[in-house]
Amino acid sequence: MAFSCGQRRSGRAYTRVMPADRGEPALPAFEEIYARAGDDLASVPWARLAAHPLLVMWLDSLGAPDVRTSRPSTADGEALMVGCGLGDDAEELARRGYAVIAFDVSPTAIARCRERFPRSPVCYRAADVLNLPGEWLGRFGLVVEINTIQSLPRADRPAAIAAIAGAVAPAGLLFVRCRTGAEEEPDGPERPWPVRRSELAGFTAAGLTQLDLIDHAPVPAAFPFVRIIYQRQA
Ligand SMILES: C[S@@+](CC[C@H](N)C(=O)[O-])C[C@H]1O[C@@H](n2cnc3c(N)ncnc32)[C@H](O)[C@@H]1O
Repeated sequence: MAFSCGQRRSGRAYTRVMPADRGEPALPAFEEIYARAGDDLASVPWARLAAHPLLVMWLDSLGAPDVRTSRPSTADGEALMVGCGLGDDAEELARRGYAVIAFDVSPTAIARCRERFPRSPVCYRAADVLNLPGEWLGRFGLVVEINTIQSLPRADRPAAIAAIAGAVAPAGLLFVRCRTGAEEEPDGPERPWPVRRSELAGFTAAGLTQLDLIDHAPVPAAFPFVRIIYQRQA
């Protein structure tokens, strides 16, 4: 498809001390981490250097779209990877036949993806989830978000959630994986800050229907988490 135009190891927190509600611009914080890591990719606190096991399990259960025969599938062949980091999840989607656009706010992360996967069909680009290109609106049969929302200051989350939901095409699917916590749980000093159910409600408020939720760990997890599948009505 033509386009216009990448094992969590621990529960380590990953940025400097900064209360969630005061916020911290995402770009300097994340760019600094990727830049400081240099070629030592394993030193990036969230680096798995492999696709997320929950994504792999879900994709296995879904079946890849057959782009050659247009065999009906529950997901369209065009996918958007949110906050792609070092690119492993985007590569997994591409390997399964999706035509993938993957973005991250950090230009250094995007450069690392291109270096790691020089022959990749994935379109990697630097972009801010709070300011997505207009042509991505309602475009993707599959949108995948893993651990980006929890990285954002709380004040930015409603807009980010609306933007992610907005990228899902009619009948398209959204995969969300994030750390969760109780509504009243106070924020710790460092990212990642748990995503509250009241924040996740932004996805249904944006017109998506929740199809499926997992909140127990078939694979080890450092924090309580949810994996939710949403769909936009056809
Ligand atoms: C915890 S990391 C997770 C990376 C990747 N999804 C993974 O699971 O390995 C959060 C990612 O979100 C990116 N990010 C933070 N704020 C962002 C924003 N406003 N727009 C796009 N990406 C952002 C960071 O640069 C970082 O790569």
